[in-house]
Amino acid sequence: MDAADVQDDLVNVLFTEEQIHARLKELAAQIEADYEGQDLLIVGVLRGAVMVMADLARSFGRHLEMDWMAVTSYGSGTKSSGVVRILKDLDTDISGRHVVIVDEIIDTGLTLSWLTSNLASRSPASVEICTLLRKPEALTMPVDVKYVGWDIPNEFVVGYGLDYRERYRNLRDIGTLAPHVYS
Ligand code: PRP
Repeated sequence: MDAADVQDDLVNVLFTEEQIHARLKELAAQIEADYEGQDLLIVGVLRGAVMVMADLARSFGRHLEMDWMAVTSYGSGTKSSGVVRILKDLDTDISGRHVVIVDEIIDTGLTLSWLTSNLASRSPASVEICTLLRKPEALTMPVDVKYVGWDIPNEFVVGYGLDYRERYRNLRDIGTLAPHVYS
C-alpha cells in the first residue's frame, strides 16, 4: 500500500520507501564494517521489525543469521506499567555470539532496554541495537543504541511495520497519522 492509498489518514510522509531503503543500506554497510571477520546474528523484534529485518538483511553482502523474538510491554494494560514479557523466545543459543537486535522504533525505550539486559544475561560475545527510528523526546529510560536510522519528533507514526490497531503495517512509506484517525 502506498501513501496515496491512505492519504486522508496521514498528515505527511516522513520517509519514503526509497529513503528508507537507502538509509538501511547505509546502516548495513556500517554494521558490516564493524563486524568484519566476525560471526553475526541479527534478532528481529516481532511484529513491527519484519520489514526492517527483510530489507536490512538483504542489504548485507555477507552471511549472517536471523532469529526472532516477540515481547509485549502491555502486560498490565498500559505501556507505562513497565512490564515486559517474552511471547516467543529465540531459537538460537547466543552464548559467545555477536548479536544485533533490530527494531523499527524506540519510543519510551522500555522494550529495548529490557531486551538488551535479557540477552546480555545469556553470555553473548556482544549485544548492540539497530533501530530505524527513535523518538528522543519520548525516552523514559536510557538505551544505548549503536545504529539509528533517524531521530524523529514525538508524533504518532505508521507504516513500514509500524501500526495503529494492527493497520498501516503494510504501508510502504512512513507517515504521521492524522489525529482524526485515532481521536
Ligand atoms: C513497538 C516497537 C518496539 C516498541 C518500542 O512494538 O516495535 O518494540 O514498541 O516502544 P518502547 O520503546 O516504548 O518500548 P509494539 O509493542 O508496538 O509491538 P509490535 O512490534 O507488534 O507493533
